[in-house]
Amino acid sequence: AEVVRVGLLGLGTVGGGVIKTIRSQQEKLASRLGKRIEIVKALVRDSEKERAVHVDPALLTTDFEDVLSSDVDIVVEVMGGVEPTYDYVRALIEKGCHVVTANKELLAKRGTELVDLANQHQVHLAYEASVAGGIPILSVLRQFLRTNDIQGVRGILNGTTNFILTKMEAEQLSYQEVLKQAQELGYAEADPRSDVEGFDAMYKLYILAQLVYGESLPLADVVRKGIADLSAGHIRIASELGYRIKLIAQAYQAEKGIRLSVEPTMLPVSHPLAQIHDAFNAVQLSGNIVGDLLFTGRGAGELPTASAVVEDLAYLLTQPFTPHPTWKEKTADKAGGTLDSAE
Ligand code: NDP
Ligand code: HSE
Repeated sequence: AEVVRVGLLGLGTVGGGVIKTIRSQQEKLASRLGKRIEIVKALVRDSEKERAVHVDPALLTTDFEDVLSSDVDIVVEVMGGVEPTYDYVRALIEKGCHVVTANKELLAKRGTELVDLANQHQVHLAYEASVAGGIPILSVLRQFLRTNDIQGVRGILNGTTNFILTKMEAEQLSYQEVLKQAQELGYAEADPRSDVEGFDAMYKLYILAQLVYGESLPLADVVRKGIADLSAGHIRIASELGYRIKLIAQAYQAEKGIRLSVEPTMLPVSHPLAQIHDAFNAVQLSGNIVGDLLFTGRGAGELPTASAVVEDLAYLLTQPFTPHPTWKEKTADKAGGTLDSAE
């Protein structure tokens, strides 16, 4: 089978999962794709560090130029952050590399430029892993919901906070103890404030809005509240009243344009989103023809995320390039009402 040369930017939780998945699924992928995936370089910060997955030390580099000059066909970006990641991804696209990324922050902050650049250079920019971990929600939006008008999207888009809220309620553990567990399990962002203050869910909502509505509000116009101020007392009182608190992200069309928000929300325990536990995510869509849809699955962690990354890799190895719809940002019309008045 033809060999496809792949470079990795980052070899942490997700990068390790990508290597494990490619190794364990190599024969199947070779027979299904007619191609063998070979990791030829992996960029890390510290090449001496002990890693959960063994790799040939000769593959590791701390110099991005080594990846750029390695004659790679595809690069998987799983290092996170915007700087220097944006410059690296840009340089790779300009060189004609296809890029698969799990980096929602990069997409929400610089996706408009990266999508344009990828289209200009006719390379794939694939990012299924950036939203809702292993749930293939972006593929659904791109490939299935063409006939329907989607009236709204609502969901639980952050695994770490859902894990924290679940454990705080079920095991009466303190916020700090559960956050530590989420970090040990590989769910949390490098800076966990991104999870608990709602930034991570906001980035994902931004990406969903681009696919659903063909535009998003600028990040500064998204209503965002995290769970950092929630105490065990709030969770207990909600529970005594028959409610559960969930960090709900939602996008919907109001009279004067779309509205995006991420906020802790009290839901009756019987609500489908109140039943989503641990690091699971859920996305609820409502289409004018199909009605309500609910997608759930593991939203964070090594293998669910690697699943989305490797599925993207496999997809772009078999599909010709087609231009990605341009991303747009539209400032909210402040006269358009509040979230409450639009509901
Ligand atoms: P980790 O912190 O576990 O891994 C990051 C990797 O990138 C490490 O190998 C690190 O090197 C390397 N790295 C970071 N910065 C640099 C730099 N400036 N130069 C060179 N190498 C660098 O992160 P995750 O694997 O958890 O996450 C990676 C990305 O995937 C992020 O964008 C995250 O938001 C996203 N994501 C994560 C999910 C998860 O469940 N963890 C789920 C979905 C998306 P070294 O190992 O030497 O420190
Ligand atoms: N930190 C993120 C979360 C990882 O907890 O959902 C998955 O994107």
